[in-house]
Amino acid sequence: MHCIITTAINSPHSAFEFGSALAEQLGTKFVVRKGKSLETIKTEYNVDVIILITQKGLTAHTPAGDLFFHLSMADLRIKNLINGKHDHMIAAMDLQPGMSLLDCTLGLGSDAIVASYFTGCNGNVVGLEGSPVIALITAEGLKNFATETDDLCQALRRITVINTDYLNYLKALPDHSFDVVYFDPMFRRPVDSSSHIKPLRFLADNRPLTPEAVREALRVAKHRVVVKETRGSQVFAELGINKTIGGKYSSIQYGVVDVGSETWSD
Ligand SMILES: C[S@@+](CC[C@H](N)C(=O)[O-])C[C@H]1O[C@@H](n2cnc3c(N)ncnc32)[C@H](O)[C@@H]1O
Repeated sequence: MHCIITTAINSPHSAFEFGSALAEQLGTKFVVRKGKSLETIKTEYNVDVIILITQKGLTAHTPAGDLFFHLSMADLRIKNLINGKHDHMIAAMDLQPGMSLLDCTLGLGSDAIVASYFTGCNGNVVGLEGSPVIALITAEGLKNFATETDDLCQALRRITVINTDYLNYLKALPDHSFDVVYFDPMFRRPVDSSSHIKPLRFLADNRPLTPEAVREALRVAKHRVVVKETRGSQVFAELGINKTIGGKYSSIQYGVVDVGSETWSD
């Protein structure tokens, strides 16, 4: 995948400086727009992805549609938590205020935001994302997105984003570095063609989770490793995970492996 960064038409000069800095960070080119259409720029520079700097933030134009940062269900899930309702992910992680979470598959950060809100200002949420473009869009969104409340804003701002492959990162971490390690891989969603998933899938690392990664995660976790999957998925059995948590009518289930558990073997 080839990509460049440009601005919306008629952007202020400050957007040029910002664009150049982002391009350097991403190891790509910043292109001055000069009133050209995005299609013209794509052809001229032979790229399939353009990251556009707009007043509202960054948008990645991909052949599969536009990807930009948004809260997705995080907003509603946090409102539910405030109202004392149950969140299956929080329950599966057995997360408590002040805990640390390594989210190995950050994506646009919706799950990480809920976890960051719940763990609070004494907690620590680190998100790993293998796609440089997704990592950039999420990092900028978490840094700048305007939220309704200050608590939600702080939850976004507290998350650390690292553009890396989770297996390499896990292998380099000491034992028991995080309370919980979490995976929400793309792999299970080949049939999900909803419009917001398409550009994510185009940019994402679509490889499946392996027993090796779960083994590393169990070494790095102090408390548990959690894997999000579709209900009835073979992946739980393939990974040797036999404890799952999820709503009775939910299409999603969370596989749970406790550290030191005798039940997990790959
Ligand atoms: C289904 S999305 C995660 C969605 C996220 N839980 C949320 O709430 O927005 C999976 C993400 O994990 C990333 N990913 C997949 N394999 C990875 C790997 N080996 N290292 C780092 N990130 C990876 C993909 O690029 C994708 O962005």
